[in-house]
Amino acid sequence: MYVCICNGVTDHQIREAADNGVSSVAELTMRTGCGSSCGSCLEMAGELLTKARAMRDLPLPMLGLAKVA
Ligand code: FES
Repeated sequence: MYVCICNGVTDHQIREAADNGVSSVAELTMRTGCGSSCGSCLEMAGELLTKARAMRDLPLPMLGLAKVA
């Protein structure tokens, strides 16, 4: 899904950036342009980046199955 409509940045691109070591929203903006126009996507982008970094740092495959509850 598109997270940043202004710059066409998707959630996949944010997860990919996290996998490549991006650790802050400022760095995400520099690398992808996410949030560099209206800024309304910054909160969601930050949450996705934080979750992606957590999964990268502590991969817990069973968490993916926890959606059922
Ligand atoms: S939606 Fe991302 S800068 Fe506007």
